[in-house]
Amino acid sequence: MTVSAIRRYTRRVLLLIPVVVVTALWAANPDELATLRKGDIAVDLDPPRMPETENKDIKRVRNYPMQPPTIPHKIDNYTVNLNANKCLSCHNRTLTEQSQAPMVSVTHFMNRDGNFLAQVSPRRYFCNQCHVPQVDAQPLVGNDFEDVDSLIAKPD
Ligand code: HEC
Ligand code: HEC
Repeated sequence: MTVSAIRRYTRRVLLLIPVVVVTALWAANPDELATLRKGDIAVDLDPPRMPETENKDIKRVRNYPMQPPTIPHKIDNYTVNLNANKCLSCHNRTLTEQSQAPMVSVTHFMNRDGNFLAQVSPRRYFCNQCHVPQVDAQPLVGNDFEDVDSLIAKPD
């Protein structure tokens, strides 16, 4: 290596130091989302940990009366398909005494004409279309939703 080549090399290494420091600080900031984005494609990075499903069995507030309540328990391996619906083995009208789960509400028995069927309507069979569990993680995007009560309370 010539002297000028060594100098050039040293300069490059020195120039990289701030980048490394900034990256390290950024990675250490707990407010930042863990992500593989912007990672070097040639490097095998550690993927961020999958967040845990919240399993506290505590009902969460509904943000408006028609909101499908979020699921306060884990639903791992709860099959819902043509032949079986694990959710209904606890939430069905006839099984709630045994399970102590809240019964699916009466809207789940209505067909599209507003008539009540004897059993849960096919429109409400695939529970996870509307009900979802929650994970213990930071929201991916910001949200400035305001509850209607706080909107009403605001001065004009
Ligand atoms: C083993 C019984 C059981 C199964 C299976 C089950 N749940 Fe639940 N679920 C409960 C119980 C009990 C509660 C009351 C809160 C608690 O203890 O977690 C509940 C609460 C809920 C709530 C909250 C209701 C509210 O008013 O906030 C929703 C929504 C719900 N479950 C949906 C589902 C869905 C969807 C499935 C299937 C993917 C399912 N559950 C499977 C027992 C069950
Ligand atoms: C098309 C959307 C949709 C589907 C599919 C659906 N739900 Fe719901 N669910 C709702 C909405 C909206 C509410 C709240 C208003 C209401 O009761 O209709 C609700 C309420 C509930 C509640 C709370 C009842 C109460 O009185 O507190 C439970 C429990 C529930 N659903 C369970 C289920 C289960 C189990 C399934 C699958 C068999 C299911 N839901 C399918 C939309 C849906």
